[in-house]
Amino acid sequence: MSQNYLGSMRDTYCGDVNKSYLDKNVKITGWVHRRRDHGGVIFLDVRDKKGLVQVVVAPQNEKAFALAEQCRAEFVVSVQGLVRPRPEGTVNPDLPTGEIEIAVDDLHILNQSEPLPFPLDEHQKVGEDIRLKYRFLDLRRPEMANRLILRSKVTRFLRDFLDNRDFVDIETPVLTKATPEGARDYLVPSRTYPGSFFALPQSPQIFKQLLMVSGFDRYYQIVRCFRDEDLRADRQPEFTQLDIECSFLSKEDIMSMMEDMVRGLFKKILEIDLPNFEVLNYQDCMQRFGIDRPDLRIPMTLIDCDDLMRDIDFNVFSQPARQDNGRVCALVVPGGNSLTRKEIDDYTRFVGIYGAKGLAYIKVNSIEDDNSGLQSPICKFIPNDVLTSLINRLEVKAGDLIFFGAGKASVVNESMGALRVKLGHDLNMVEPGFRPCWVVDFPLLQKDASSEQWQAVHHPFTQPSSDDWQKPEELLSNAYDLVLNGLEVGGGSLRIHDLDQQLTVFKHLGISEQEAENQFGHLLRALRLGTPPHGGIAFGLDRLIMILTGSTSIRDVIAFPKTQTAHCPLTNAPSKVDSMQLRELGVQLHQKLKTEKSIETE
Ligand code: AMO
Ligand code: AMP
Repeated sequence: MSQNYLGSMRDTYCGDVNKSYLDKNVKITGWVHRRRDHGGVIFLDVRDKKGLVQVVVAPQNEKAFALAEQCRAEFVVSVQGLVRPRPEGTVNPDLPTGEIEIAVDDLHILNQSEPLPFPLDEHQKVGEDIRLKYRFLDLRRPEMANRLILRSKVTRFLRDFLDNRDFVDIETPVLTKATPEGARDYLVPSRTYPGSFFALPQSPQIFKQLLMVSGFDRYYQIVRCFRDEDLRADRQPEFTQLDIECSFLSKEDIMSMMEDMVRGLFKKILEIDLPNFEVLNYQDCMQRFGIDRPDLRIPMTLIDCDDLMRDIDFNVFSQPARQDNGRVCALVVPGGNSLTRKEIDDYTRFVGIYGAKGLAYIKVNSIEDDNSGLQSPICKFIPNDVLTSLINRLEVKAGDLIFFGAGKASVVNESMGALRVKLGHDLNMVEPGFRPCWVVDFPLLQKDASSEQWQAVHHPFTQPSSDDWQKPEELLSNAYDLVLNGLEVGGGSLRIHDLDQQLTVFKHLGISEQEAENQFGHLLRALRLGTPPHGGIAFGLDRLIMILTGSTSIRDVIAFPKTQTAHCPLTNAPSKVDSMQLRELGVQLHQKLKTEKSIETE
């Protein structure tokens, strides 16, 4: 069974050797996974990327036996031998190769290995730092390797899907100018222009728009993006986007094509038919979930109570209920009556992380006409008729618990939105499967909390859905985010293709004409020279793979990721450079930085 592409050192992958190879001679290569000595016979489990196979070395084969005796875990070997059935009683039904073994004719040690810094057994709990330092070993573990193999299948599918629809794969520069996506830039000093810097792209946004001006019509790229921002379980400083741009398509055209693509991907990779992609309006989304990336698998929503609480004698509720930027909302926890005092205190502390000043609650012991079945420190502040309206609105049942958030709408949304998700997980209320949705009708602008300056909610090239600038805070954008199980997996929009509209947006963002010319002159030139209507989207490829592989950390789906502090334990990057190199670049370090400990000396 010769497979030429395997080369001359082997003819079969270890994991492929099964019953169909019985009585055939095979040549395999791989790593010694385990060596067992049994009554004068040596068993080696040899592993390659496709799996394990059992190799048996008999003492009669003196040369091979002597070498097998030297073999230790993770030695690299090549083996030639005859495939034969395993003796009765030794068949391993859990292994694809479990019915056979290879009786060795010839064995070579191709390389040795020192004892490993951690066992590869996938059930072993090993600290992430050591796993990242020896990432090449960590990736020998099938659970890790399989994620990267799946990742490769995903990109293959996405490329095929887009190639079949006339998309052109075009690369854009990595050494470039700032591309505003809301994070800090990674900067690279220029040697040839001392004092000037390249920025690594936060996304290829402007370049892909320029490609539409060129007439490519449909572009995609699987592209690395760089953002110096606070890291979380689903964020890396460098991450990969599937970046897409199209001309002459409506918002609905783009959303529907992308829906087909994601649907096809889940079918191909997981053999799953995704349910309908719900389309949620941003405002509704914030009202119901407190967040613009709702996890629809959790069957609880925030329910407004402002109108009921305006006139009651309990300031904690009545004040925010009366304020324009205030909110009072309820979250009904089915069966939540069984939460203990301590658990409620823990949830109160949890919402405190988001700035909530407290977490009022009502336990519903029973539903009575006089509300005597409600148990809560706050019931005494709420008139009976208001309680009755509340109970009717919330449709609670005996055994439920109602949590309340009251205060500034932004704090209530963030804290109660997070509480909803936490309760969903803590109380096992997360429904299985996948719940995709589009979030649309985002505001175009938001006020920066500290400077009071308008900022783009997405990026400054997003098309407003109207040109009426009388109340900038009310302007919406033609943007759409794709959310899956509470993760924002993609975001895009129609773009501004009209020069005046772009200049108006810049003006409202406080970008002067001079600044606009310096920063975005290349885009402005293009807008004067025949820019077609266009729009697109970018998917966070790592996040998609996280979801497809059921991973909880983005680092588990990236071959060589960085830590939460944007450090690479494998290479020890970022690292110091010598003073000569700095001088060449015209860079002088601040005295304080020179004396600070570097990562290498920690
Ligand atoms: P946006 O900034 O929404 O849009 O990014 C698109 C998608 O990229 C993913 N993503 C990240 N993934 C991992 N780590 C990060 N630090 C990170 N930041 C973002 C998210 C997100 O939905 N140019 C626009 C797209 C467009 O308008 O076409 C853009 O970059 O999944
Ligand atoms: P207090 O009057 O501060 O003792 O609060 C009475 C009840 O209201 C307590 O159960 C608090 O947890 C709750 N509470 C206080 N502030 C808030 C708030 N901003 N949102 C929700 N509940 C609150």
